[in-house]
Amino acid sequence: MDYITVAMAKGRTADRALVLLEKAGIHFSEFHDESRKLVVFDDENSIKLIFVKAVDVPTYVEKGAADIGIIGKDTILEDPRDVYELLDLGIGKCKLAVAGFPGTQITGSQFLTVASKYPNAAKDYFDKKGIRTELIKLNGSIELAPLIGMSDVIVDIVETGSTLKENGLVVLETIRDISARLIVNKASYATKTARIQQFIADLKVALEVHS
Ligand code: PRP
Repeated sequence: MDYITVAMAKGRTADRALVLLEKAGIHFSEFHDESRKLVVFDDENSIKLIFVKAVDVPTYVEKGAADIGIIGKDTILEDPRDVYELLDLGIGKCKLAVAGFPGTQITGSQFLTVASKYPNAAKDYFDKKGIRTELIKLNGSIELAPLIGMSDVIVDIVETGSTLKENGLVVLETIRDISARLIVNKASYATKTARIQQFIADLKVALEVHS
């Protein structure tokens, strides 16, 4: 049987996804927390798991290098790809939010500087509200930007809220809820329909047990 290739990024979401896969009867015996392996196999179910950088998951899936990807909705929104999004895994839950110093006003009459890992999603949000912005793309430590006067606000992921709190920032507006999604390459879905549908069905059962 041909192997199905699943792409995901190591980290919090992958840890939770692997628990879910385990419940679905999919087990990667070579995987452990300290492992530096980038490819692991479940030979019994003919599934290959590849670890890639989170922002690259949709690229692997769109290009067909992976049949399936597990990735946060934040990444999907920031860089939409020509793939099917077929399942909300309900893990990696957080919010995409505008944050800044308490009392920061966000109105249509002003020009806002916005620092974000998600400049496209942020611009889209402010454009729809008729707010003119300058977007500053950063790759991490976003909360620093208002603290050092580089931006008026940030658009970032908020999970527990501790990073904002410890830096004296608050959520000013919630843009949307985020969670991990299962995405599928369109050609793979056409040629490996039964296997991919079975994979999704098994995950859905695992999700019901999980919740
Ligand atoms: C993310 C995000 C926030 C933080 C939010 O950063 O960009 O900084 O987590 O989580 P919290 O609400 O639970 O504090 P990440 O940990 O990915 O690090 P980064 O700053 O390097 O992007």
